Amino acid sequence: MREDFLLLNPGPVPVTREVCQSMSEPMVSHRSAEFEAVYERAQDALDYVFTESTLDGSSTASDGTSLIFNGTATMAMEAAVANLVGDGGKVVPLVNGKFGRRFKRIADRYASVDAVEATWGQSLDLDAVADAVDDDTDVVTMVHNETSTGLLNPVEAVGEIAAEHDATFVVDGVTSIGGDEFRIDDWNVDVAVTDAQKCLAAPPGTSAMYATERAQEAFDGESAPFYEDLDWHLRKAESHQTPFTSAVPLFRGLAIAVEDIADEGMPARIERHRQQSRAFREGFYAMGLESFPERNDATEYSNTLTAISLPADVRENPDAFFDAVADRGVSISGGQAHLGGEIFRVSNMGHLSAEQILRGVRTIGEAFEEVGADVDKQAGIDAAREELR
Ligand SMILES: Cc1ncc(COP(=O)(O)O)c(C=O)c1O
Repeated sequence: MREDFLLLNPGPVPVTREVCQSMSEPMVSHRSAEFEAVYERAQDALDYVFTESTLDGSSTASDGTSLIFNGTATMAMEAAVANLVGDGGKVVPLVNGKFGRRFKRIADRYASVDAVEATWGQSLDLDAVADAVDDDTDVVTMVHNETSTGLLNPVEAVGEIAAEHDATFVVDGVTSIGGDEFRIDDWNVDVAVTDAQKCLAAPPGTSAMYATERAQEAFDGESAPFYEDLDWHLRKAESHQTPFTSAVPLFRGLAIAVEDIADEGMPARIERHRQQSRAFREGFYAMGLESFPERNDATEYSNTLTAISLPADVRENPDAFFDAVADRGVSISGGQAHLGGEIFRVSNMGHLSAEQILRGVRTIGEAFEEVGADVDKQAGIDAAREELR
């Protein structure tokens, strides 16, 4: 691998040398005091991230528990739904992208489902959400930052609707928590989930959940898959362990990565992510490119990843463009599912420097030039630099 390789995919994101080194330390038992100390450090730092992800540094939740799982956030999403609607029940999943659809697919296995759907990349209709959620609704699921489209969905507005009907509100904050604002109590969130390899900038393989006291009371562990029994996970977490063998090296990497977030402080981290995503967006607009997601009054563009429509002529042979980016030692993502060949996506999650953001913009401009697209690379670099000043 080239020494200057730059990973700009929306996860996994680059990890620090200290995180890498921690994973090669000698192995210990997952039932040892050494491991319990690692779990506790990760849990304490996660408590901070889950409850103080605010621009003003205020606290937004107090009575919940942070859990860490072997397994990525899809498992945490399934655990939340399965523990809440084990013996049937009604789930309203909100779908306007691939990860909203994932929640719906999970819910289909456990409950009766009344989904509210919008075209991927478009905003959800809050009136339709209000119509779908009623007093029989057990769980409402939604994705805060839809990674497949780059749209930041209105969790607060949906949380109010869920609370009016006493429905448990489960939110996927996989590409927002640790990089953007996330206000658990203010938004009536009962369960929040995130992945290690996104804004937490830890190695892939673990995920985390914050479950409020109210959610914990609603969990029925026996109705969930054996491995995902949240009552059991909660019991073991009291002694800083997992029910089954923990992925020891991954937990070590996670602990260091999340402690780094606490050191930076969420207000500064949120500001930095917002500035860097503006630099990407403004840079690409100045090149003459267009945003893929369409925002309305209720939605924002993501502050952690940027999704841009490929120009029509590039869509005829998108591989040539992506190859030209890769040849320059930079890794970016295309569109997922039916959006393949239609868009490209870059992440600013974790701890990228201003220089790395600029390199991303420059590389993408050069790749477009190489494939003959009509873009103004220099205008893009100048606009991004201006945002990063
Ligand atoms: C919004 C969102 N939810 C959930 C996931 C979970 O995916 P995985 O379990 O593959 O890590 C991802 C990963 O990209 C995501 O972006």
